[in-house]
Amino acid sequence: MTYSSSLDKDIAKVLVSQEQIDEITTRIAAQIDKDYEGAKRLVLLCILKGSVVFMGDLMKKVSIPVEIDFMKVSSYHDGTKSTGRINIILDLHRKDLSECDILVIEDIIDSGRTLSYLTEYLRLGGAKSVKTCTLLDKPSRREVEFTPDYRGLEVPDEFVVGYGLDYAEQYRALPYIGILKPEVYNK
Ligand code: IMP
Ligand code: MG
Repeated sequence: MTYSSSLDKDIAKVLVSQEQIDEITTRIAAQIDKDYEGAKRLVLLCILKGSVVFMGDLMKKVSIPVEIDFMKVSSYHDGTKSTGRINIILDLHRKDLSECDILVIEDIIDSGRTLSYLTEYLRLGGAKSVKTCTLLDKPSRREVEFTPDYRGLEVPDEFVVGYGLDYAEQYRALPYIGILKPEVYNK
């Protein structure tokens, strides 16, 4: 399928095409179906905003019963550089956390701080189980040791946008994942 956006000109290279994303989400959904078969309360926990497109596609492909929920955290305050601090902007308010198998849905794992903080937070909060699923993984950037349970694709140390991922709140609606031209953020 061809697609064009007025933002395509800012993209140096398409890193993950729509077709590849479709294959990845199909594969992960099938694995979730298998691993959580018989689970009573599986909650797909979307981390806003970056994971919203991945979440939407993934939840449609999972065929076992799931609930969905949302948290909003921020770790990036300074252009493309992580500040290392995690802020919870929208918390999870569930009285039934101890009955829930939580699967955290993330767009990308970079330093590892967001997912390691969140899994600890949810475990301390009393969740029945906590696992993590990320579409992209930049292992070369890890600052804290963390291995996600489900992982779509390993990517190089480049700043990527599209399919939910942003730079300064732009590019989230691109249906593919692309490497942003450095001149866009070095302006
Ligand atoms: P971590 O806490 O450093 O692992 O950061 C994870 C968060 O950083 C992700 O949820 C994204 O919001 C953001 N992030 C990391 N790398 C990129 C990127 O290449 N493009 C856009 N956002 C990114
Ligand atoms: Mg994010």
